[in-house]
Amino acid sequence: MSERGNLEISNVSKSYQVEGKELRVLDHINLKVAPGEFISIVGPSGCGKSTLLRLVVGLDDNYGGEILLDNKPISGTSLQRGIVFQDHRLLPWLTLEDNIDLALENSGLPNAQRRRAVAEHVALVGLTGFEKVYPHQLSGGMSQRAAIARGLVSRPEILLLDEPLGALDALTRLRLQEELLRIWRAERVTMLLVTHDVEEAIYLSDRIVVMHSTPGRIASDIKVDLPWPRDRASHEFADVRREILRSMDAYSSVAARAA
Ligand SMILES: Nc1ncnc2c1ncn2[C@@H]1O[C@H](COP(=O)(O)OP(=O)(O)OP(=O)(O)O)[C@@H](O)[C@H]1O
Ligand SMILES: [Mg+2]
Repeated sequence: MSERGNLEISNVSKSYQVEGKELRVLDHINLKVAPGEFISIVGPSGCGKSTLLRLVVGLDDNYGGEILLDNKPISGTSLQRGIVFQDHRLLPWLTLEDNIDLALENSGLPNAQRRRAVAEHVALVGLTGFEKVYPHQLSGGMSQRAAIARGLVSRPEILLLDEPLGALDALTRLRLQEELLRIWRAERVTMLLVTHDVEEAIYLSDRIVVMHSTPGRIASDIKVDLPWPRDRASHEFADVRREILRSMDAYSSVAARAA
């Protein structure tokens, strides 16, 4: 297993100023992710999942605590860390291959190597033949695959995925889950996936982190000890699902009592 991609989030807290008042969004988040691990984060809307990914990718450095990647504090965005958003964010005026190539702009790689890396990653996500196509000519699933290729083309140590399959129909979603697994195995990249889909999290992850909200905090960190390929219909799968839902539900019952 690769030695790179060792993420340590220590005591991270984050607040926003909203109408002159401090809104605490993340409260003392501690999370260690080993190289090559696949971690999913689930939790209610507004609990700070996207905020946490923004901090890890380096889009916002205004927070308390420390985030280390391979024992070094992260600083700004970097080719070490790739991100895929729920909306693919492909640029409409660039072809698919140019959209992917854009992620290599600051890589310093010679052109021939860039072209090879783009072609390899187009193939990795199954889009060979669509290199010259523009985003409006792609389906939602194809666009998300292109976004995953763009996130991976710089060979990051860690790939952050913020509900990348959220907007897709059920069948495309299942297919892309298979693809994510295949890519993860092939690239051995550390994965941090935010999803609202508990089954998706169980199907893909080594560990699942359940967050509660107001302020966002980690409620449980559950190891998924099921062999691959995972059987969604198995009793063991249902047991893990029950455990996760119970942990998520603990939050809603507390919230219901407080209301
Ligand atoms: N730039 C901002 N300024 C002020 N508040 C913000 C800002 N960005 C996010 N928030 C607030 O921070 C909280 C967490 O937002 P975040 O987007 O991280 O949640 P989330 O867990 O990703 O939710 P969802 O599942 O709906 O995507 C929310 O209460 C949101 O309103
Ligand atoms: Mg979000």
